[in-house]
Amino acid sequence: MTINIILLGPPGAGKGTQARTLVEQRGLVQLSTGDMLRDARSSGTEMGRRVAEVMDKGQLVTDEIVIGLIREKLESGDAPGFIFDGFPRTLPQADALNDLLAGMGQSIDAVIEMRVDDAALVDRISGRFTCGNCGEVYHDTTRPTAAEGTCDVCGSTDLKRRADDNADALKTRLLEYYKKTSPLIGYYYATKQLQPVDGMADVAEVGRQVAAVMDGIGR
Ligand code: AP5
Repeated sequence: MTINIILLGPPGAGKGTQARTLVEQRGLVQLSTGDMLRDARSSGTEMGRRVAEVMDKGQLVTDEIVIGLIREKLESGDAPGFIFDGFPRTLPQADALNDLLAGMGQSIDAVIEMRVDDAALVDRISGRFTCGNCGEVYHDTTRPTAAEGTCDVCGSTDLKRRADDNADALKTRLLEYYKKTSPLIGYYYATKQLQPVDGMADVAEVGRQVAAVMDGIGR
């Protein structure tokens, strides 16, 4: 059975952290538009330069660009299912995703909404760093590396902080979330696909709540 889920939540809610666990434990494919756009910006193309400018300010990239990126991935091969991480972020993106999946005879099985207070988001974003080699996500206080400066998973010393993880960009990212993305909560509530989890709990407990949603799919 193919399973497609959306992880929906504000910046720093823990979408990427939970997506990586689902990839590991359930073999699903993570489609993070944030990661795709960061790849595009490092490509040095004109499109990459335009994307970088928008991301660094904390604004949303155009629907046309992100829908194009998702379309390319969905068309590039079969998978046991997809975790949409950071996509959709607008109502037109949600409609486009429904259409793309319908064209493959598929649909969204659950939209997991990760609920986290704004104050906790600021803490999470300001302490985050990731491994530039394998993408593992860390935090200065809640999830430091075992050996300082070295990734626990792959041993790389290429640990990075994101250009948009600063107070100014975060303010804009939160505003963008409340203006353009939070209407999706009502949308997926109306379609009976919304499954809220307590994103304020620790990573393991959030993982248990996400697993319970996954286990309930199709029952
Ligand atoms: P994107 O990369 O998607 O960023 P985001 O949505 O802002 O989300 P984050 O990656 O910041 O957070 P997360 O929820 O994955 O949290 P994480 O697990 O890392 O987007 C970046 C930009 O790209 C956007 O601003 C926009 O410009 C553009 N973009 C992307 N998609 C787009 C789209 N569809 N349309 C238009 N533009 C788009 O966790 C954060 C930290 O908290 C980590 O340090 C982690 O260790 C820690 N943590 C995680 N869970 C917990 C927990 N339960 N308790 C304590 N700490 C925790």
